[in-house]
Amino acid sequence: MGLKILGTGYYLPETVVTNEDFTRIVDTSDEWIVKRTGMRERRIASEPTHVMAEEAARRAIENAGMSPEDIDLILCTTVTSDYITPSLACIIQGNIGAKNAVAFDINAACAAFVYALDMAHMYLQNGYKHILIVSAEGLSKITDYTDRSTCVLFGDAAGACIVGWGDGEFKSVLGSDGTGAHTLFARRPLNDVPFVTQVDPQSVDHFPDVNRPGVLYMDGREVYKFAVGAMSKALLGACEKAGLQPKDLDLIIPHQANLRIIQSAAKELGLPLERFYVNIDRYGNTSSACIPVALAELNAQGALVPGKKVGMVGFGAGLVYGGCVFTL
Ligand code: UT7
Repeated sequence: MGLKILGTGYYLPETVVTNEDFTRIVDTSDEWIVKRTGMRERRIASEPTHVMAEEAARRAIENAGMSPEDIDLILCTTVTSDYITPSLACIIQGNIGAKNAVAFDINAACAAFVYALDMAHMYLQNGYKHILIVSAEGLSKITDYTDRSTCVLFGDAAGACIVGWGDGEFKSVLGSDGTGAHTLFARRPLNDVPFVTQVDPQSVDHFPDVNRPGVLYMDGREVYKFAVGAMSKALLGACEKAGLQPKDLDLIIPHQANLRIIQSAAKELGLPLERFYVNIDRYGNTSSACIPVALAELNAQGALVPGKKVGMVGFGAGLVYGGCVFTL
């Protein structure tokens, strides 16, 4: 059984930050950022993550011609929830009035939308009918704006879709490599506890002691190497399971971490770059929101034509990756 996209929505904060804006706070240039990443602009939110998430969710429900009561499961992906607990999914469920929905979050960093689709596919087999997936990221909350090698990369956004049963097949490949966990992380600040002096997990895990708690650290070169391999491995694996060749895919929606990573994957898979949807120039890397925002943009353009074969692929902190293919 396959999976059908019944509706999509996305939300972008109003504030646009250009490459030129970064030249005023760190030692960088528009030329370096464009050449090394393909990024030109990104959005930065003043609103909390859940506000972006709810707006994207409402738009997806409206686009599907449904009401919040029709949703029976909400899966949210985020690494920047406003609350440690409850889940972002429960906050959305309450605020949009999806009173019949079970709601919880998934943490798989930038690959999480693909993980959520995979999980939705399993829940559909379990009897759920209309599953709302919301991926919302306020990465500006965890970005170190004194670190030029990471701060230019990230933006804020939320994307959502509703999925139900469809014809055709949904096939996926997920993978994790925790030995690379130290290459991309943000650690939680320690709490002040009156009875003990807590051991900083960083000191026993031997993660690099390079930045303050609460902001992202990334070994860009290591993650880059992982990403290029993971992109083709995940897409090829999903195609193989579906009995397809990469060339059979009409459209590929990749995670938008670096245009050069997408170009390398296209080359490795023997596909023209035009087959890959790219909006990295406008929004930068919005972690798990990249793919659903792209999906919603494509839907608004009328590009999600029934019968077309689509591939999605993501990778990120963990390290994790995930790819899937299905027929629209
Ligand atoms: O979504 C999660 C997954 N994330 C990713 O997949 C990101 C993967 N990594 C990358 O996309 C790239 O590694 C980066 C875009 C982060 C960095 O590009 P790079 O070509 O790998 O640069 P680099 O780290 O090798 O640095 C090359 C030089 C360094 O200077 P030196 O040591 O050669 O003098 C950096 O300090 O570029 C310098 N540099 C910058 N220069 C100007 C790093 N960031 C900047 C900057 N502006 N913003």
